[in-house]
Amino acid sequence: MSQSGLKGGVIRRVGGSERQVFRDHLLRLSPKGRRSRFGGGVSDLFIEQHAARVFAGAAVVYGLFDEGPIRAAAEMHPVGGAFEATAEVAFSVEDDWQDAGVGTALLGRVMRAARNRGKSRLIMTCLPENVRMQRVASKHGAKLQWQEGDVFGTINPPIPTPISLWREAMDEGQGVLNVLFDRPRIEAAE
Ligand SMILES: CC(C)(COP(=O)(O)OP(=O)(O)OC[C@H]1O[C@@H](n2cnc3c(N)ncnc32)[C@H](O)[C@@H]1OP(=O)(O)O)[C@@H](O)C(=O)NCCC(=O)NCCS
Repeated sequence: MSQSGLKGGVIRRVGGSERQVFRDHLLRLSPKGRRSRFGGGVSDLFIEQHAARVFAGAAVVYGLFDEGPIRAAAEMHPVGGAFEATAEVAFSVEDDWQDAGVGTALLGRVMRAARNRGKSRLIMTCLPENVRMQRVASKHGAKLQWQEGDVFGTINPPIPTPISLWREAMDEGQGVLNVLFDRPRIEAAE
């Protein structure tokens, strides 16, 4: 889906200086959305701490920005270190923005970020009743397995190409070398 089709929002990388905007998005998730995102009911404090942890490590976060606020996000967390081949992904789309192709578009962006960083295996977990997440993952070729009350998805992004690197660099307004080495953008003072 084109970005302009996403109810007017724009998907882009979320920078460390925007972690409070990211936190506010997670705090706006409905009780059902929180349960689906985190696999159980979680407190506001848990979300505060999660948002702080996300930007303290090597995670890559994309957000759907609706002018100021973030309405949806995708997180990619390297498993076992930034240079390992596996990363875990998680998604959050506010209720009013669901079923409009946002989750599908976010997974597409995360898959491109993964391939450009040498991640050959993306894993995700969701509740068995989360048919939306399963549908989004299946559309991107995920293998789904039902185990011990959860659904585990695995996607193998293809290897990077000059075009995939160039596209990310263009979308993020940075150079190809910065994408390759994932150099953080210089953020405005907080
Ligand atoms: C799961 C989630 C990320 C999906 O995002 P989304 O923007 O709603 O997804 P999309 O609109 O791209 O796609 C949803 C798909 O599910 C389908 N769908 C919706 N309700 C459905 C249902 N009851 N049965 C089957 N399919 C259904 C839609 O038709 C669509 O498929 P299509 O594009 O083939 O028509 C989002 O709903 C969400 O954030 N939920 C709360 C948090 C969460 O569940 N996170 C996942 C675990 S980390």
